[in-house]
Amino acid sequence: MGVVGGGLELIEMAPRDGLQSQNSLIPTRAKVAFIEALSETGLLEIEAGAFVSPKAVPAMADSLAVFQKIKRKKGVVYSALVPNERGLDDALKARVDKIAVFTAASETFNQKNINATIQESLERFRPVISRAKLNHLPIRGYVSTAFFCPYEGKIKSEAAFKVCLELLELGVDEISIGDTIGRASPTDVRRLLDLCLKKIPLKKMALHFHDTYGMAVANALTAWEDYRVFRFDASSGGIGGCPYAPGASGNVSLEDLAFAFEASDGKTGINLKKINAALNQIAPYLKTPFSSKLRKLL
Ligand code: HMG
Ligand code: MG
Repeated sequence: MGVVGGGLELIEMAPRDGLQSQNSLIPTRAKVAFIEALSETGLLEIEAGAFVSPKAVPAMADSLAVFQKIKRKKGVVYSALVPNERGLDDALKARVDKIAVFTAASETFNQKNINATIQESLERFRPVISRAKLNHLPIRGYVSTAFFCPYEGKIKSEAAFKVCLELLELGVDEISIGDTIGRASPTDVRRLLDLCLKKIPLKKMALHFHDTYGMAVANALTAWEDYRVFRFDASSGGIGGCPYAPGASGNVSLEDLAFAFEASDGKTGINLKKINAALNQIAPYLKTPFSSKLRKLL
């Protein structure tokens, strides 16, 4: 994983986190066109689908077809969520470049999301991770509800840190810490990073901010300026949300975050006009307007 010009890496979530909660099914060809357009924007990594139960998340049921149809751009990593070995079988069939396992810091959220306790989910990941390694696939590990849970409220930083360490112990290459319901503040971010960065190298750290309370850009700038975290998940247009976190809005808009970093002397390597063009492709299929502030200005 390289850093563009000593700068920042934004990881595109729109085709997965963005589209997973759309209650109208989007045609596979529209997803393929969207991902191909996003591939031309300077992004280095795109989470393009999820090999999860179609009963749990109907909108991701065509992920195999999406991966089989996209024209892949050299240098771009196309990743997918994998909850168990069945998901890994499909991910291997789809020739993904990277997988992401996902658990949480809150027991209640984890039960609702993947029908397992945190411990059960980690045990489930053990064979997934060893088989992914045999197939030379890099592995991301998500820790959802690392700050707040929609069911349990505030989560202790120590609890989120413990799950991060357990995932690293299992062999994931990277952790993505999730503010699933978009409620964290820069103070919460500092509290967790003060703990995590004692043990987790920066190159293994990504942050995943949803933007429900409008705090995501402030949180990301805090993590970058104060701690030099340089990998951030974001969703073009601000599309999305988790179907198991009611009321939560999408990830921070990728174009808003890129603008904030560039305005603060960061380098993202992202062409915002091309992001806008990619959003024009998917716009007719979405039921909700984009939440991005920049979209109106591009
Ligand atoms: P389960 O019901 O406990 O699983 O679900 P099971 O093993 O008992 O199987 C039940 C059925 O699902 C069986 O089918 C399996 O074959 C099928 P049936 O016999 O009933 O016809 N099944 C599968 N089908 C396709 N792909 C699979 C798969 N596994 C089993 N991989 C399970 C457990 C984990 C599968 C389910 O709960 C699930 O798929 N959950 C996914 C939920 C999800 O995708 N949530 C959104 C993504 S996470 C997120 O958004 C947060 C994040 O963005 C970070 C943040 O914001 O914090 C990452
Ligand atoms: Mg998310």
